[in-house]
Amino acid sequence: MDLKGRSFLKLKDFTPEEITYLIALGEELKEKKKQGIAHDELKGKNIALIFEKTSTRTRCSFEVAAHDLGMHVTYLDPSGSQIGKKESIRDTARVLGRMFDGIEYRGYGQEIVEELAEHAGVPVWNGLTNEFHPTQMIADMMTVQEKFGRLKNIKFVYMGDARYNMGNSLMVACAKLGMDFVACTSKNYFPDQELVSYCKGVAKETGGSVTLTDNVEEGASGADVVYTDVWVSMGEPEEAWEGRIKELMPYQVNQKVMAYAKPEAIFMHCLPAFHDLGTAIGKQIYEKYGLAEMEVTDQVFESGQSVVFDEAENRMHSIKAIMYATLK
Ligand code: CP
Ligand code: NVA
Repeated sequence: MDLKGRSFLKLKDFTPEEITYLIALGEELKEKKKQGIAHDELKGKNIALIFEKTSTRTRCSFEVAAHDLGMHVTYLDPSGSQIGKKESIRDTARVLGRMFDGIEYRGYGQEIVEELAEHAGVPVWNGLTNEFHPTQMIADMMTVQEKFGRLKNIKFVYMGDARYNMGNSLMVACAKLGMDFVACTSKNYFPDQELVSYCKGVAKETGGSVTLTDNVEEGASGADVVYTDVWVSMGEPEEAWEGRIKELMPYQVNQKVMAYAKPEAIFMHCLPAFHDLGTAIGKQIYEKYGLAEMEVTDQVFESGQSVVFDEAENRMHSIKAIMYATLK
């Protein structure tokens, strides 16, 4: 499998075989790391990390993975560069492409990361846009594969805001890998119709399926994986909370939902999560709406079914695989 020189912008650009290869490579690199086998095969290379939105997992994963591979990292934070304010994306791409071997970009519209990749002349990796979060997908699918030993015949239920980066990306990933994807949420939060049609077409070829339902019992029954994400994403206005709470509360992942799922079902979340009062936003919401937990209850989050920290660890191994495959 040769992915050298390719950008990693969205899973739509990759075949099921290429995605499967990246998952396997992530496992291989994870094993090497666990066994203490050096894999600094990209020594001498330099990468840039551009973050126009904040991050814990993605940034740390890129940094640790790059160091393990022997690379040097330059981090540009949301205020630390000219990007978009004084210099166009096209010009930025042509400058950074002269200095770096690869560029990670986290920001707003998908068109920005696409434009960066078009002009950089080096691989660009999408570290999250409003529309897609593709590096998260390799980690998530790696985690499902580890827990069940397979991806086929997995009923993967996504609850909550299914029309943003996580819902979109998971639907594409599941379709590409022949899984049974269910978006279980209010009709107003179903993924974009065009993307649903695309995914249904892909699923037909891979043996998977795509279902949209606003019925929790129907959606969650027999699930192998129950997944959720925050109801208001980075960059969305604070005013959005009120409407989201009203419409998405019936789709909170709680014990009742997990009871519909299979007994061996796992709970997943890309994180960060609002499951207690341990965050500033969580406290504000509590003061305003009296809610101590949102998209997932603390009980489910802390339960034995929750694999969220394995998932978070896999971000690093899978991002390493993506960089290795596109640079080596
Ligand atoms: N899941 C994820 O992308 O986390 P960060 O926002 O912390 O990078
Ligand atoms: N939907 C979330 C994902 C965070 C990893 C956001 O965009 O904020």
